[in-house]
Amino acid sequence: MKHTLIAAAGLLLAVSCTNTPKTRIYLDESQPLEVRVEDALSRMTLEEKVGILHAQSKFSSAGVPRLGIPELWTTDGPHGIRPEVKWDEWDQAGWTNDSCTAYPALTCLAASWSEEMSALYGKSIGEEARYREKDVLLGPGVNIYRTPLCGRNFEYMGEDPFLAGKMCVPYIQEVQKNGVAVCVKHYALNNQEANRHHYNAVVDDRALYEIYLPAFKAAVQEGGAWSIMGAYNLFEGEHLCHNDRILNKILKEEWGFDGAVISDWGGTHVTEEAITNGLDLEMGTGTNGLDSKYGNSYDAYHLAMPYLERLRDGRASMDVLNDKVRRVLRLNFRTAMNSNKPYGSLNSPEHNEAARKIAGEGIVLLKNENNILPLDLEKTSKILVVGENAIKKMTVGGGSSSLKAQNECTPIVGLQEAIGDKAQITYQRGYVGDLLRTYNSVDTGIDLTDPRTEEELIADAVAAAKEADIVLFFGGLNKSKGQDAEGRDRAAMALPYAQDKVIDAITEVNKNVVVLIVSGNAVEMPWIDKVDGVVETWFLGSQAGHAIADVLLGKVNPSGKLPFTFPVKLEDNGAHALNAYHKDSLSVEYKEGIYVGYRWAEKQNIKPLFAFGHGLSYTTFEYGEAKCSKSGSGYKVTLNVTNTGAREGKEIVQLYISDEESSLERPVKELKGFKKVTLAAGETKKVTFEITEDMLKFYDPEKGWVLEKGKFTAHVGAASDDIRTTVDFTK
Ligand code: BGC
Repeated sequence: MKHTLIAAAGLLLAVSCTNTPKTRIYLDESQPLEVRVEDALSRMTLEEKVGILHAQSKFSSAGVPRLGIPELWTTDGPHGIRPEVKWDEWDQAGWTNDSCTAYPALTCLAASWSEEMSALYGKSIGEEARYREKDVLLGPGVNIYRTPLCGRNFEYMGEDPFLAGKMCVPYIQEVQKNGVAVCVKHYALNNQEANRHHYNAVVDDRALYEIYLPAFKAAVQEGGAWSIMGAYNLFEGEHLCHNDRILNKILKEEWGFDGAVISDWGGTHVTEEAITNGLDLEMGTGTNGLDSKYGNSYDAYHLAMPYLERLRDGRASMDVLNDKVRRVLRLNFRTAMNSNKPYGSLNSPEHNEAARKIAGEGIVLLKNENNILPLDLEKTSKILVVGENAIKKMTVGGGSSSLKAQNECTPIVGLQEAIGDKAQITYQRGYVGDLLRTYNSVDTGIDLTDPRTEEELIADAVAAAKEADIVLFFGGLNKSKGQDAEGRDRAAMALPYAQDKVIDAITEVNKNVVVLIVSGNAVEMPWIDKVDGVVETWFLGSQAGHAIADVLLGKVNPSGKLPFTFPVKLEDNGAHALNAYHKDSLSVEYKEGIYVGYRWAEKQNIKPLFAFGHGLSYTTFEYGEAKCSKSGSGYKVTLNVTNTGAREGKEIVQLYISDEESSLERPVKELKGFKKVTLAAGETKKVTFEITEDMLKFYDPEKGWVLEKGKFTAHVGAASDDIRTTVDFTK
């Protein structure tokens, strides 16, 4: 009887549903997002729900065809839009219409200390992602630079949480205006490539909250990131792609993140953890051995059939499932299903201009004795360019960020174009590094073979240097294995190949030597006192040669500053000094705690080769006296900055704060503000910094974030080691 009644009620319901079909609210973009998500969720079968939580190909996940919910397409990131790969493989698909603009590496963007450049970057790369019909851009990367050996530092934004946090926000906001989600990576504590799938980061809570999390928090709360990528390694014994504390407790509960957690490719390992510990979308899981039971390898993903089986027999919770589905639906509605998207564009003149501009603002003039730069073509008729990096294309290589750039101007070509016949440019190789011409089927078209021995190469460079007015040595790293590259760390902090020898030999015969370092990492410079000029040019992308020529010739006045410390040697870095960096250990204890980068150097009183925040200009700036006044519940610091030189320039005015009395030891000082100001020759501008209460807090493992009363000092200067004015205030 009871059964008959229930059946009859079911029939009635079915009839009434057929008679008055519910409007498909989820398709109505004028409805609030959450209402649409709930509507879509209510219509999905169990199989459809699980169906959107894992990959269907190397870079895409399925939608719900029955409901007209489209697939999601992801792409690397973070410096340009990766060329298409085959459905199931890492190999290139060989398309002819997937070449892009390569933007400068994120270290360069961070070195610009310009939120305006970050917005321009996000807008431009977002437009390219849109044009290529991608929904999720796998970037930006904001892992903290803990050691100069980390192979992927070039994809990140330096050693300081405040700088990385501020610099990632405009990038994120502008990308997402294109209906393309960012996927901020690699959350979190992924600070080395060596053993990246296996090492457990042992980090105390203070370092976690003060150093390693803030940039991600800013990405989520200020940037409004729609997705985030879990990291490969482990924390507290759990992989970071399914880590209850980091994903559920901190990201979702503490920070209120409403987007989707996407696994790094192949970062999901344990089904139960993948289900309960905060992962929403599983990508890139290796299928070896997993597919024996199911026809399709993707069905064998942890969040596919194994999950469905657990849901069907009641081992897995429906609430947890629905939370995941809501998050992936939100991501989908914000991107693939957003009908109000711009067209986008690929490799447009504007994008190339943007790449050149960002590069020009990020290049850092590290040393400029005797004003060797900018080049004075009145007095310089013979320029010798030495070094493999002058002729090598750098937009390929290094792992997942490798690109197929539609055009790439190498340094030598950029110089030749800019100088024309105003001076003679000759070239010498100097050393042979990596002969690789093709990377993942992208052919750079440059044959780098050279039959000469090391001795012959050096002898030829020296002979040419004797005849030159100035020598420009282009060296550094080159994204080869064991250098700036994904998947393993650098072999050493020294320059690879015979570069140090070549520089030494050249300086013996020519006094006018400028070394240009192409890298995303600090390198040792044993020859530093022998050269007049040093420029950090980073990996600059499509417009590398043009941007470098702009700076060398003074068309652009350099204004970048270092986003990380250049220690003299590895042991001057905290992790290395404490023997707390391990390439092959399953456990890496971050013994230096909060003392990362300049925080370590200043605590130990170690003079770096070049300090955090350092960078020169072709003009000079004078700082007035800083004044401090109350402003709401915080403070306001103001000062005048004057361009005392003869040409326009940009100065990055930096604010650091030290806590003079506190119950826990604090760093000597910490970056809490920066302003990039453009000043005409002779011009003065007033610079103002707001200091909020949050900026004065530290993380006490017992109590959480605390603000302690007492004396603080605001230090304002041109670099962490070049403070020009200080002012005290009492909270
Ligand atoms: C990298 C990610 C990248 C993904 C997809 C992984 O190996 O760690 O940064 O986005 O591959 O290419």
